[in-house]
Amino acid sequence: MNARTLGKPLDRVDGPLKVSGQARYAAEYPADGLLHGSVICSVIARGRIVRIDASAAEALEGVSLVLSHLNRPPLAQDDESYEDDDAADGSPFRPLFNERIRYSGQPVALVVADTLELARHAASLVRIEYQQQPHETDLRQALDRSHAAPAELPKPRGDADAAIAGAPLSLQLEYELPNEYHHPMEPHASTVMYQADGSLLVHDKTQGPQNSQQYLASVLKLDPSQVRVLSSFVGGAFGSGLRPQYQLPLAAMAALKLQRSVRVTLSRQQMFTFGYRPRAVQRLQLGAAADGKLQGLVHEVIGQTSRFEDFTEHVAEWSGMLYHCDHVRLAYRLVPLDVYTPLDMRAPGAATGLFALESAMDELAWAAGVDPLQLRLTNYAQTNQNEGKPYSSKELRACYQQGADAFGWSTRDPQPRSMRQGNQLVGYGMATGVWEAMQMPASARATLTADGRLIVASATCDIGPGTATAMTQIAAEALGLDPAQVIFKLGDSSLPKAPLQGGSFTVSSVGSAVQEACQALAAQLCDAARQLPDAPFTDGSALRFVDGRVQQGDDTRRAVELSTLLARHGSLEAEVQAQPSKQRERYASATHSAVFVEVQVDEQLGTVRVTRVVSAIAAGRVVNPKTARSQILGGVVWGVGMALHEEAMIDHGLGRCMNHNLADYHLPVHADIGDIEVIFVEEEDQIVNPLGSKGVGEIGIVGVAAAVANAVYHATGKRIRELPITLDKLL
Ligand code: MOS
Repeated sequence: MNARTLGKPLDRVDGPLKVSGQARYAAEYPADGLLHGSVICSVIARGRIVRIDASAAEALEGVSLVLSHLNRPPLAQDDESYEDDDAADGSPFRPLFNERIRYSGQPVALVVADTLELARHAASLVRIEYQQQPHETDLRQALDRSHAAPAELPKPRGDADAAIAGAPLSLQLEYELPNEYHHPMEPHASTVMYQADGSLLVHDKTQGPQNSQQYLASVLKLDPSQVRVLSSFVGGAFGSGLRPQYQLPLAAMAALKLQRSVRVTLSRQQMFTFGYRPRAVQRLQLGAAADGKLQGLVHEVIGQTSRFEDFTEHVAEWSGMLYHCDHVRLAYRLVPLDVYTPLDMRAPGAATGLFALESAMDELAWAAGVDPLQLRLTNYAQTNQNEGKPYSSKELRACYQQGADAFGWSTRDPQPRSMRQGNQLVGYGMATGVWEAMQMPASARATLTADGRLIVASATCDIGPGTATAMTQIAAEALGLDPAQVIFKLGDSSLPKAPLQGGSFTVSSVGSAVQEACQALAAQLCDAARQLPDAPFTDGSALRFVDGRVQQGDDTRRAVELSTLLARHGSLEAEVQAQPSKQRERYASATHSAVFVEVQVDEQLGTVRVTRVVSAIAAGRVVNPKTARSQILGGVVWGVGMALHEEAMIDHGLGRCMNHNLADYHLPVHADIGDIEVIFVEEEDQIVNPLGSKGVGEIGIVGVAAAVANAVYHATGKRIRELPITLDKLL
């Protein structure tokens, strides 16, 4: 008892289930008479379906349905019904709604059969005739059609253009990154179990079971009580499960039409047919004094979106807050194309924006003849100028210091191409990372059972970061119990309301609710103890629940054991909704990082290897350093992929992603990854929430791509402003 568990590297509570194969994912649940669906996707980017000939497919024994806009069950007619908790502005895509084709890869039919193999084969027999219209999928070709994004940017401050024009140093730079696709290990899948009463029990791959439930109910015009969504285990998501993906409504439509259970899984190729990190062109102008002190900054972003929704993310904002600068202008425009709507992807916007800003800062350091780390310190921001607020805490200086020390930054020779090992050019680069520390309203229910277990429940989920483990620790800590006594339930739309798992706000949001629910339970235990006929307390002074008993002050002799209270009450329960505190509003809150990267570039071949990374993170109190470290490791690996590998190759003639498989769409593998060291710097924050935790999901990737690009510049003297940095660009 009273094992303090917060801040300890507790093993994942669900680790044994995962490594022994007992953890079931959405496509792994058995159901009686389960049918399997295979999705047919459009091969044209714009136009309409003229005819569907499904006769050959339907003639096969074991094929039960070819579902399309022609024979689907009734669907809501209005756009609003298709909006979800993460929907962008505009009219969401409505799967199988009508004959219109809006993008290549759009689902146009679902073939349902006894087995997946049969469904796939039957799908290959369906003949679809299209009437094609001209399409446009190339952002570069359509930059002049951009419109202002419906996003509220900080107002311009000062006169950035004049400040830059008059500055001793000025730079005009342009950066670009391609579409990057989501590839969690678990592809998207939904198993819809048709119940005897006509209701649906759904296992869905999602970051929000309640979001999927609301979406299905409104799209299919069902009472929400008729739909329950479970997401017990999620094999990675990181944005891809924030919005319900099309396999979910397709499987549900088929289940309702056939009154059978239906599973639809997306193939790896089909994972290239929904949301992605959008291609963006970024223009940065920096004006600075001779010593590199910023005098003016302009950051203009043009990103792509679909024709039907205006996808926005926070790309430029960071440039107005990360460094002190009194003359700043930020702009964000969108170009609608004949593509599907982009989607949040790990550190949406920040990963994009900081690639440009932190590359530009490196270019400024070179122009000023200043060490890149010194340049960051020269421009260090004490307050968030975008919001005109102080930070609730900001230990970025400690990140720079500890990261640089661990990396050995001081041994860097500032001259490009000056460090080598044999035929390898060695480069050191660094960058800053930042992510907002948010908190959303969230609920949790805590129950102490008669046998002394603490069951805590909330409709959040665990897409991989170890949420169940962190929540177990928070609950155990709040009541002074052993974590082994705690069971945390998640991934079920019928549990107390929780936000989507995203944005790195689960610990701050759901964790706060868990803590409050347990504290409410402690208060109930104290009340119950005081009301005992033989209560041992001497006066009315405050009681506390500590170490499994209610006591007065520190007097352990006058105490009531938990077992006594549970024997009397059977069980006790508390449910709370936690809100962000009012005091937060007077402060800005963010997590920060300093990323240091060593690369080796083969002088003859141009191949780049990231040999070492040190990432120093300031994110408030870290609930579990083991799982938190894994988040940062994953983010760093993803950042290396962003810098060197990931690129959707679009054939704009076809309007389609051509490298739609993991052989041709490159991701880093073990052999691509060198040593990664993660440092969590001490950061006390009494403002963000009572836990003092800001969350560590997104921050791991932010800044990594720039740090790699900066290291490549240092190694080679070549500045690559268009990701990914492939050898053809270096030779
Ligand atoms: Mo967050 S975009 O859900 O990793």
